[in-house]
Amino acid sequence: MPLQPSVVRSWLLPLHIFILSIGISPLLAQSGSTSHPWMNSSLSPDERASMVVKEMTLDEKILMLHGTGMSGLSPMSPLAVKSNGGAGYVVGVQRLGIPGIQMSDAAYGVRSSGENGRYSTALPADIAGAASWDLDAGYEYGALIGRELRAQGYNMTLGGGTNLTREPRNGRTFEYLGEDPVLAGKMVGSVMKGLQAQHVIGDIKHYALNDQENGRNALNVNIDKRAARESDLLAFEIGIQEGDVAAVMCSYNRVWGDYACENKYLLTDVLKKDWNFKGFVLSDWGGTHSAEKASAAGLDHEEPGEIFFGDDLKKAVEAGKVPMAEIDDHVHRILRAMFATGVIDDPPQKSVIDVERDLEVAQKIAEQSTVLLKNGQSQLPLDASKVHSIAVIGPHADVGMISGGGSAQVDPPGGNAIMPPGKGNTHWQDHIWFPTSPLRSIRAKAPSANVQFNSGSDPDAAAALAKAADVAIVFAYQWTSEGMDLETLSLPDNQDALIEKVAAANPHTIVVLESGTAVTMPWVENVSAILEAWYAGSKGADAVANILFGEVNPGAKLPMTFPKSVADLPHPTLVKPPKATVDADRKGWRRIAAGLPAFQVTYDEGVKVGYKWYDAENKPVLFPFGYGLSYTTYSYSNLKVTPGRNPRISFTVTNTGNRAGAEVAEVYASLPTAAAEPPKRLVGFSKVKLNGGESKEVTVEVDPKYLSIFNVEQNGWQLIPGEYGFMVGGSSQDLPLKETVSLK
Ligand code: BGC
Repeated sequence: MPLQPSVVRSWLLPLHIFILSIGISPLLAQSGSTSHPWMNSSLSPDERASMVVKEMTLDEKILMLHGTGMSGLSPMSPLAVKSNGGAGYVVGVQRLGIPGIQMSDAAYGVRSSGENGRYSTALPADIAGAASWDLDAGYEYGALIGRELRAQGYNMTLGGGTNLTREPRNGRTFEYLGEDPVLAGKMVGSVMKGLQAQHVIGDIKHYALNDQENGRNALNVNIDKRAARESDLLAFEIGIQEGDVAAVMCSYNRVWGDYACENKYLLTDVLKKDWNFKGFVLSDWGGTHSAEKASAAGLDHEEPGEIFFGDDLKKAVEAGKVPMAEIDDHVHRILRAMFATGVIDDPPQKSVIDVERDLEVAQKIAEQSTVLLKNGQSQLPLDASKVHSIAVIGPHADVGMISGGGSAQVDPPGGNAIMPPGKGNTHWQDHIWFPTSPLRSIRAKAPSANVQFNSGSDPDAAAALAKAADVAIVFAYQWTSEGMDLETLSLPDNQDALIEKVAAANPHTIVVLESGTAVTMPWVENVSAILEAWYAGSKGADAVANILFGEVNPGAKLPMTFPKSVADLPHPTLVKPPKATVDADRKGWRRIAAGLPAFQVTYDEGVKVGYKWYDAENKPVLFPFGYGLSYTTYSYSNLKVTPGRNPRISFTVTNTGNRAGAEVAEVYASLPTAAAEPPKRLVGFSKVKLNGGESKEVTVEVDPKYLSIFNVEQNGWQLIPGEYGFMVGGSSQDLPLKETVSLK
């Protein structure tokens, strides 16, 4: 017999009272109870954390300094049963009202939803988010992830990848935010602001210089200190400051001889002292290599389990080798992060997210991040009333779009689109296709056209289909993942030959790229239009179709250079680990924890990352940093530079066409010769919305740090007095406005 409403209500009543009594009522949270005075939310996070630390036993403190294990990477603790199914779980202190920390990877959406029987939205990859150059879009990106984490019961993200694209073959390039520290730093700052506003602990990673995957547990990065501070580290510095990020994940690799997670210069001197970082540092999964050394260097927390920061650390404290004040500082930082982000006052409630809303956000960001790279003879947008036949070509373009792999992987609803339904569970480094079908979306846009599909596995058959159609659209992909680097930037699976054949058969060939990094394009001159859609997420196909048919005017710009060839990279050959290191690495986590034999990776290009390298070396590129077309055109005029501590750069942007659009206006600076820097650096940008024919005056205020060099002797930023050139325009290689001023 179904329960009557009144029966249900009376049955729920005691439960309701029970929930209230174990939860924290808002009133109590505001004032704190006499036994838990730190629950008074009008106190500062620091005051609250200090009060809790004073009450804690050594065992309770140690329990907060490590996770509860992950099979294959560390021993498992029986306490792990309370994990929410994410990559990390930290036990709280129940008797003091401190909840556990439930961590999940969430680079472009919440990970592991498949095995946990949940749903997650996939946003376009992080690199795509950076291509929007839109800080509001970044905020929305973070807010979506924050909402979905909370709904699944998590209170901490492990997203926030900020390593610079120093090596575009790096398999994790799609998880990062491009090659420029100002763009990457500002973007991750916005993403983290949006995320932490949802009361989730933010995390920024992998600190630092983890710029390739090959040999990541062993390699030692050599780089000039000034160059590091002005490039990779600057991205973190800006991100942490702009986003007030609560946690930093140190990386697997060594830097200047020490593992990043026991590197005093990186963790204490730079992060905690110079940048005044108040949050906590957690190790990458299996990236801790010692107790005493790591703790003293500034590592606050070991993940995923207790190898060094459990018994070993406790014994070291008891033996007087690690001062209690050091332990207290680690714990204080973790608690402070929890209070500051609101995870204690407003713990997550499991719930069903608003899927429709999040799909809309994902689509909007995909539309804002798809870069129009070429548009010969205004091939695009397509006019659905005039196109009678379309050939849609490319692997799986009938069913889905590819996504990026590794710990960033988001599970598609219904499973991998290229597998039979129900058979699509994701596995580490599978190629996962999201069920967002370009063919279906294109058919929906052109209902009266004859739209046919060919996978391209037989290039001749594909070319024949293309020849018979008005327009051919080739969807080409390049899959990348954590745990691998690309050998080259060429498209895999004979797709270059496929594109050549299709282009030879049809002069109206459009290429849509689904990639996580730059690709080389031997066919660039032979196709009429190119779109870079990146890993476009849950709603990629609708977003691309809206751009192809002109419902959306593209306004994204490349956050990284697309070189002509890998021969033009600072290091044409990627350094791989020697056999002894590879063999030791295979022996599992105990061997890795003990420290693998090091091999050297030397970034002698220094600060010359991305466009700074091509500029300085005078190397032509395929598509430059900051480049992207639109269906309208823009002009720049009236540059005015007002010197001062924060120079103000004002100029006018005009939409010279008749379609509304959004232009990314970019401001670069050249430093005085005495600074000995590459020809220019990005110092600011603004995304400007303009109707057809409209003009707007834009002012970009430049942070003096972005104009400075890092003086290693003085350990500080220094503005070199002299002539500064300010250049403004729509791409790093199209800067029509220039004015030189003297700064001191
Ligand atoms: C990755 C991190 C990730 C962690 C937990 C590591 O392999 O490098 O980015 O957050 O695993 O899954």
